Amino acid sequence: MKVYHRKNDLETYLERQKEMGKKIGFAPTMGALHEGHLSLYHEAKKVNDVVVSSVFVNPTQFNNAADLEKYPRDVENDIAVLRQSGAVDVLYAPTVSEIYPEGLKSKQYDFDGLEHEMEGKFRPGHFDGVGTVVETLFRQVKPDHAYFGEKDYQQLAIIKKLTEKLNLPIQIHGVPIFRERNGLAMSSRNQRLTEYQKDAAKIIYETLQRTNEWFQTISVTEINNRVKEIFEKQDGMVLEYFEISDEATLKETDSRHDNRSYRAFIVVFVGEVRLIDNLHLD
Ligand code: PAF
Repeated sequence: MKVYHRKNDLETYLERQKEMGKKIGFAPTMGALHEGHLSLYHEAKKVNDVVVSSVFVNPTQFNNAADLEKYPRDVENDIAVLRQSGAVDVLYAPTVSEIYPEGLKSKQYDFDGLEHEMEGKFRPGHFDGVGTVVETLFRQVKPDHAYFGEKDYQQLAIIKKLTEKLNLPIQIHGVPIFRERNGLAMSSRNQRLTEYQKDAAKIIYETLQRTNEWFQTISVTEINNRVKEIFEKQDGMVLEYFEISDEATLKETDSRHDNRSYRAFIVVFVGEVRLIDNLHLD
């Protein structure tokens, strides 16, 4: 596996690969790699000749300084995990100045309203930060295909919109959520949970599954009330939001309409750790 820290070195290598007709698949990450990330690489391997990943903890997408500071970082360990898995051909681990040569500033984007829903309400500026880093990485890596986990479903929708609006010739793929054995969605943040918290946090996915059953028979208002009640009873957990939204617009719905697809979205603080999950509703 090749490891690059400088944009020019990365670009020189990838341009040569493209000249040889190789297809480039790209999965950007913020490191602290786990099996969920590996599933992105395996998906990329299916249709690309060269699989590229990046590890970069992007400061502009954190609206909470403590969250940025506590975000797990261990690039050496990430490199070891990748070497052992053999899943990635090129790792790009840029310095801050390779991504932000003019200082840490986000561009402002218009994602046709997707950015104002859910995470947008609770994490102001988050999607401008994500858009800025993803656009920069896309322009440096110039992949044919790019892969993002469905755990951050709103992010995935926004990246599709970004690619479409900027007319970038990149095919964006969503990869299903990879879960721990107890159902907890895999996340780099899980490293900050105690074993007890990790076990207790299975209630998040269980609640989504129950939502899927309830969605067939009871009203959205009743579901919202039941979910609130469940989390009021959990020690050490705070429900930040739960909503059932239209999968295309991400707007919250208060009832079910034919010919629309819906998804339940949830964010819960387990202790100080903010966990996010979602489930498509049948
Ligand atoms: O999902 C992530 O890990 C990050 O938001 C991303 C897409 C790598 C941008 O920093």
